[in-house]
Amino acid sequence: MTVGKAAVIARRVYGRLRFPPMAISFPDNFLWGTATAAHQVEGGNWNNDWWVWEHTPGSGCAEPSGDACDHFWRYPQDIALLADLGFGAYRFSLEWSRIEPAEGEFSRNALDHYRRMIDTCHENDVVPVVTYHHFTSPIWASLAGGWEAPESADRFARFCEVAAGHLGDVVGIHCTLNEPNVVALMGHYLGVFPPGKRDEGAMDKAIYNLIRAHRLGYEAIKAGPGRAPVGMTLSMHEFAVEPGGESQMARARDRMEDVWLEECRGDDYVGVQTYTRLRFGPDGILGPADGVPALQMGYEYWPQALETTIRRASAVTGAPILVTENGIGTADDAQRIQYVTEALQGVRRCIDDGIDVRGYFYWSMLDNFEWALGYRPTFGLVAVDRETQARTVKPSARWLGEIARRNRLET
Ligand code: GCO
Repeated sequence: MTVGKAAVIARRVYGRLRFPPMAISFPDNFLWGTATAAHQVEGGNWNNDWWVWEHTPGSGCAEPSGDACDHFWRYPQDIALLADLGFGAYRFSLEWSRIEPAEGEFSRNALDHYRRMIDTCHENDVVPVVTYHHFTSPIWASLAGGWEAPESADRFARFCEVAAGHLGDVVGIHCTLNEPNVVALMGHYLGVFPPGKRDEGAMDKAIYNLIRAHRLGYEAIKAGPGRAPVGMTLSMHEFAVEPGGESQMARARDRMEDVWLEECRGDDYVGVQTYTRLRFGPDGILGPADGVPALQMGYEYWPQALETTIRRASAVTGAPILVTENGIGTADDAQRIQYVTEALQGVRRCIDDGIDVRGYFYWSMLDNFEWALGYRPTFGLVAVDRETQARTVKPSARWLGEIARRNRLET
């Protein structure tokens, strides 16, 4: 029989066979969680720079955050729901403006509130992953120059020292700063986040101070009680280039990722947060490519970016990787399941290649306040009624919760 003939027969026979679904398992103790951020879900955060920005005419914000998801009061039910769905970890953030409402003045009540949240996680067998800064700063800090001020890193470190002093013994994983690379870029160069600057010099100052803030915050947390791992999270992209866009791409990647990744070397982990890819042409960033669906956020459906960025973060830092955010804003919940399936297949390939990936956190548990875009994009596994605050579990929540419970993905 010729090789060609054998191939034809094999195709006929095997083409008719139905293969059972494949299961992809994850390592023991792999953390499965979801993530939120204080300002996006708590409601009533009147004392921070984002609240001011949302109410500033011309800032481009779609709507104010208002009561958000009332998570400040509803966290007990939300955390219980998360645990019930099958998740074993919850990433949330401390609202600095509640804990330090005026410079040097700390609220014991606010600290106790977050301690109760952490206790609630433990009562539900959920690992609390605590972020100290997720985009928002107290109004007093922004009036004192925000991240451009030379004192900003020391101010943040003092906050970390106090918060970790109160909470460090019960925190599961600490995260100093959430996506400082986005804070520097969006707030100081693109002007779409507070303080709304479009000034490269301002961005460079913010980068310098945020890197210092991470270092000092890291040390302050380490000096406090407990022995939980400490790291920071970065916004990462798969970078693609069209002819002529090479130098634009290299420049952007250096400022957006490389300077930050270098800083994570030696940390306990690096938090990878990935949603899509960025394509560059001779004039800078390009829109979605032909044939690639565009999402609510305006960028491409590109789940394979997670694998690319995990590989890059690991290669540059050598640190263990935690996927602290990955997800999709979509009204189509089946598309969410498809996106996460593809992303998790990439995570598994990384693990197979020996990369030390410790967990996966879906962004987000709840449909929430998507910064300048308001409540339009829907990233949540759980929908929130904007009038009544009623929670409705989406099929994707049950699907991903089941993967978490079994520690395996059926494909
Ligand atoms: C982030 C953001 C989240 C966003 C999410 C979806 O860290 O980028 O933490 O606040 O809501 O990325 O755009």
